[in-house]
Amino acid sequence: MERMIGLWMYQNCGGSEIEQQIVNQLNERGIGTVRGLDLRYSKATAQGIECKGTRIDELDLFFSYNAGEQTAYQVYMYEYINDFTPTMNNFRSFKLAEDKFKTNSLLNKYGIKTADFCLCNKENPEELEQVFAEYGTLVFKPVDGWGGIGVTKIDSFDQLSSLKPHLDPEEYKYFYVERYIDYDGSDFRVDLVNGDFVGCYGRKAREGDWRTNVTSGGSVFLREPIPEVVDLARQAALVSGLEIAGVDIVYDRQNEEYLVIEVNGLPAFATPEQEQHGIDFNSRKIEKIVEYIDHVTGSKSCQ
Ligand SMILES: Nc1ncnc2c1ncn2[C@@H]1O[C@H](COP(=O)(O)OP(=O)(O)O)[C@@H](O)[C@H]1O
Ligand SMILES: [Mg+2]
Repeated sequence: MERMIGLWMYQNCGGSEIEQQIVNQLNERGIGTVRGLDLRYSKATAQGIECKGTRIDELDLFFSYNAGEQTAYQVYMYEYINDFTPTMNNFRSFKLAEDKFKTNSLLNKYGIKTADFCLCNKENPEELEQVFAEYGTLVFKPVDGWGGIGVTKIDSFDQLSSLKPHLDPEEYKYFYVERYIDYDGSDFRVDLVNGDFVGCYGRKAREGDWRTNVTSGGSVFLREPIPEVVDLARQAALVSGLEIAGVDIVYDRQNEEYLVIEVNGLPAFATPEQEQHGIDFNSRKIEKIVEYIDHVTGSKSCQ
């Protein structure tokens, strides 16, 4: 029986062309595809999970690659699907990577260096003051944020107290803070598929900012991978369990070492514009993804 893969992929910034290439290469390997499986339009009954006329639980794999914010319903369904069929990324790792605190905590457990961090109870504000006194400068982060939004540097007690009311919405039961890393305002983004290196580029913070996110005005540049950085990224991807990972790494000038800043479970492909500037890992990444899907679903049908 022919294998069948369901896909839900972002369409902007060159995404639909990338998806087309993935589909073509899967088809060449005799793997059928259904696109556009936005779980917003799915429903589950005793008969199974259905989305736009496709039985998702009967697919050989569900490929979820949409950077847009997912609703709680989509995420719940993603988790449920993974009980029946492999998903890429696997739900558990996807969920882990959505939480910066849990990811950093796991990385440290395996000896992978990150910024020092602390999760503290917002009902004990003095704890936050102690951490501030210890770290000197803090970075406050929403544990599930993206694009640099809400990532705030705190380098004085005044700031700490003026910030507190704003960081205090009901849904926050805690503060998650990291030690501010003294770095040169640039990072490495290392892309990996199934633990294999596929590409590296750099991001540079905008003049006057310290965050490298493109959404915060940062820019992307060609950057040669350094073996030490690739190795660190590979370890982080492995520990997180992500089949597709983008690991952000900076050089801590004070302690003279590389640190993992973030592990992304939905690292974007290079945009057509970035490709024009020589960031050329897309085809390798597509190839690795297709190879991996073929491998995973192939071994399944042989059982
Ligand atoms: N502990 C830190 N010290 C210094 N800079 C940081 C630290 N954490 C994050 N940054 C900067 O802020 C940016 C955004 O933080 P990050 O944790 O990656 O959140 P997001 O998910 O919003 O991208 C990073 O790309 C990095 O440039
Ligand atoms: Mg980031």
